[in-house]
Amino acid sequence: MTSARKIKPLVAGNWKMNGVKAALGEAHKVREALAGGSTRPSAVDVMLCPPATLISPLAQGAAGGSLLIGGQDCHVKASGAHTGDISAEMLADAGASAVIVGHSERRMDHGEMDRDVRAKAEAAHRAGLTAIICVGETAGERAIGLTLTVIGRQLAGSVPKGATAANTVIAYEPVWAIGTGLTPTAADVAEVHQFMRQTLGKQLGETAGTMRLLYGGSVKASNAKELMAVANVDGALVGGASLKADDFCGILAAYVD
Ligand code: PGA
Repeated sequence: MTSARKIKPLVAGNWKMNGVKAALGEAHKVREALAGGSTRPSAVDVMLCPPATLISPLAQGAAGGSLLIGGQDCHVKASGAHTGDISAEMLADAGASAVIVGHSERRMDHGEMDRDVRAKAEAAHRAGLTAIICVGETAGERAIGLTLTVIGRQLAGSVPKGATAANTVIAYEPVWAIGTGLTPTAADVAEVHQFMRQTLGKQLGETAGTMRLLYGGSVKASNAKELMAVANVDGALVGGASLKADDFCGILAAYVD
């Protein structure tokens, strides 16, 4: 099954606001698993997105290995008077190769709108980072049949014109599935991912055919295989289950034949 994939999957762990230096030990275990070949690193790209404070030490520890490092958010500007903010250029300088933008927690906690997310994705591209752009409907929106309308609107508003399969990853994360243990059915995921592929095709052209479309929301070792087998699902964005190396490596095992 994995060998039939035309797009190399990406499994990215989002630590959110969790982890102090002691957590680097978990990243180290993931790195060891990749180096040991037990997770077939050639079959999947693996990324951890720790809090900004840990990017630099994590990147130093991961140097020379296959573990990728990402940030969780960035400012739209490269530098300036924006106390407390971090630019995409700074993330790149610290050793990140990607940044998550438009996570629903950012959209909710910080009132980020699609246009803000698009500007952040553009900032990521400017800095040479891959933008991992998150979209997803709320439970209320799904209940009244608005899922595809919402996803279509978020893709139209959040994905910049310059997005390509090389510089952009889209993560479908139903808001109601994040951190709840709930997941959509495989059929529901298939419907949204096919819709995203088509919509991005209209928006961006041919490059959308090989753009990675991740599923995120309560992914764990026990459901990873089923979710990753869904058509047009090219990997996972993992929150809670990325904090412990054993759990995270259990998800990576879904890519081992
Ligand atoms: P979860 O979070 O895996 O803990 O549900 C996913 C995410 O927010 O990316």
